[in-house]
Amino acid sequence: MPTPIRILCIAGARPNFMKLAPLFRAFSTCPDFSPALIHTGQHYDDKMSGQFFRDLGLPVPLHNLEVGSGSHAQQTAEIMKRFEPIMLEEKPHAVLVVGDVNSTVACALVAKKLGVFLIHVEAGLRSFDRAMPEEINRLVTDSISDLLLVTEKSGLQNLEKEGARPAAVRFAGNLMIDSLLFHLPRAGDSPSVDNLGLKGRRFGLVTLHRPSNVDDPAQLGEILRALRVIAVDLPLYFPIHPRTRARLGADEPGGDIHLLDPLGYLDFIRMMSLSAAVFTDSGGIQEETTALRIPCLTLRNNTERPITVEEGTNRLAGTAYDGILKAWEDVKASPGRGRVPELWDGKAAERCVQAIREALT
Ligand code: UD1
Repeated sequence: MPTPIRILCIAGARPNFMKLAPLFRAFSTCPDFSPALIHTGQHYDDKMSGQFFRDLGLPVPLHNLEVGSGSHAQQTAEIMKRFEPIMLEEKPHAVLVVGDVNSTVACALVAKKLGVFLIHVEAGLRSFDRAMPEEINRLVTDSISDLLLVTEKSGLQNLEKEGARPAAVRFAGNLMIDSLLFHLPRAGDSPSVDNLGLKGRRFGLVTLHRPSNVDDPAQLGEILRALRVIAVDLPLYFPIHPRTRARLGADEPGGDIHLLDPLGYLDFIRMMSLSAAVFTDSGGIQEETTALRIPCLTLRNNTERPITVEEGTNRLAGTAYDGILKAWEDVKASPGRGRVPELWDGKAAERCVQAIREALT
């Protein structure tokens, strides 16, 4: 392999950005790599994208595919159509995709069909729920990747069961936690919590965006009904994802639940680090709360990140009124601090870069 190794790194949606930032920092000290960032534009609002680039110090993308929103097929197909000419023009040695969003699978397919070495960061996670679009994206991406970089041990087991080549699998740790540990000290300057008058007060943080939770008004209503009861104990602050905002329309959730615009990365991690508990259907937030040792109630019936339940502070609360309240009673009775999983130590990026170097040279 000639050096520098030209590697295109794909970002599409909000949870991708904090995984790529530590990698770009690590690459910047390695003259044998020539990385470039490609933004698919799956997330395009400043609050979902631009703010994260600024907060995380990400480089300006070499290309922005500006694909925007659409159905799954439209969005995936459009990313593929727009990414292929860039591959032909840039002729990279490798393509690196992260996570499980539509941009991940779309760019993975394009790279592999052009015969380019494909790296998947956050490989091997499985919810075993094929109704979840991300699970399909994970299965497809992992099955065609040449290097599978894994965040937690369940990923190693899943990939082994699925017959991945052992030499292609590396336990590298968690890039999202690299970002958290790097930025949290800086996030103290973020005014969000102070502006809300939350300093020194107990509060909870809510995020909800999964289609299965927010697209059906009855389901969303059931979750909000439970959260209104919890908010009597613990006022709740809810930075709202555009999908959920659209579903709620002009409705307010009611009770002591306060809607906020989506927060930037530094504001969000500061608020999370000061919160008494977090209620979420996000994947990454299950990991961040485990690293911060803050109780997390995951408003889903499964998780592709089981270590956050087995070792961390996460509980699967489900999506039904009674179950959510039962889980909240359990948290109040015994919040638990858990322990931080192996290799969630802020040094995953260096291990990823080393694994990529070894695989390619
Ligand atoms: C996507 C990912 C999900 C991830 C989430 C984080 C897939 C299949 N899903 O879901 O895994 O957890 O990102 O947010 O890739 N919208 C805006 N502005 C934006 C982006 C989206 O208004 O910048 C609105 C659009 O109306 C869009 C909707 O949000 O239709 C959903 O966006 P989309 O990218 O389709 O999926 P997410 O629900 O964000």
